[in-house]
Amino acid sequence: MNVKLLGSGLLLFAGFLACSEAPFVKMTNAKCPSYNESWVQFHYCRLKAYSRNKTSLNLNLTILEPANNIHVRIKLMKRANGYKPFLVDFYLDACAFMRKRNHPVFRIVWNLIKNVSTVNHTCPYVGLQTISDFHRVEIPLPMPSGEYLYLANWTFDGRPQFATNVYFTLVED
Ligand SMILES: *[C@@H]1O[C@H](CO)[C@@H](O)[C@H](O)[C@H]1NC(C)=O
Ligand SMILES: *[C@@H]1O[C@H](CO)[C@@H](O)[C@H](O)[C@H]1NC(C)=O
Ligand SMILES: *[C@@H]1O[C@H](CO)[C@@H](O)[C@H](O)[C@H]1NC(C)=O
Ligand SMILES: *[C@@H]1O[C@H](CO)[C@@H](O)[C@H](O)[C@H]1NC(C)=O
Ligand SMILES: *[C@@H]1O[C@H](CO)[C@@H](O)[C@H](O)[C@H]1NC(C)=O
Ligand SMILES: *[C@@H]1O[C@H](CO)[C@@H](O)[C@H](O)[C@H]1NC(C)=O
Repeated sequence: MNVKLLGSGLLLFAGFLACSEAPFVKMTNAKCPSYNESWVQFHYCRLKAYSRNKTSLNLNLTILEPANNIHVRIKLMKRANGYKPFLVDFYLDACAFMRKRNHPVFRIVWNLIKNVSTVNHTCPYVGLQTISDFHRVEIPLPMPSGEYLYLANWTFDGRPQFATNVYFTLVED
């Protein structure tokens, strides 16, 4: 049994029990490096001030050649003398996920962005992909207050192509 996944599962279960308490979450920075500009180009990767204590995430990128084999490594980091790994760390077959929606932790991320993105279909992915004005950050897990970094490293055909990394601050109720 994968210990990390088990940990995430238990965390998730605890999250459902505690989800009536909505923590305050504010995204503070977004970084989207492309590791292969001839496959993935970012036009836009920015936060906009949505209101005084809310920001929205806006991504706009072009995939220049069809991508049929997409994996993503998701890691959550928490700041404490630099960023340290925090509970969530998994590797996912994104094409399989889009067919079956079969990963409990990634489903949380997917449920947050599905309404505001253009990626609601199965592989292949090619052309313009966007996430527009994403601001409803709701984290159904009990997490301690602090500064966090959500890292998503995307590979096509097993090779790193780009990352979508979002920094956020969380304040427990
Ligand atoms: C970069 O993208 C090009 C164009 O799709 C592709 O042919 C090449 O294999 C990619 N390189 C790496 C290291 O993934
Ligand atoms: C994406 O960015 C490009 C280049 O900045 C822009 O021309 C295009 O209108 C943007 N598209 C969307 C849907 O935001
Ligand atoms: C956001 O700011 C407004 C006004 O400054 C305040 O009324 C509201 O309670 C704040 N929301 C949170 C979740 O802190
Ligand atoms: C997505 O849209 C559906 C239907 O419009 C709505 O019920 C749901 O609350 C929305 N979810 C998010 C996260 O915005
Ligand atoms: C995503 O696509 C599926 C299949 O076309 C559809 O049933 C579902 O309502 C779509 N969801 C959103 C949020 O657009
Ligand atoms: C993401 O991939 C890049 C390129 O291989 C690598 O430099 C970076 O350390 C990776 N980050 C994580 C969090 O795995």
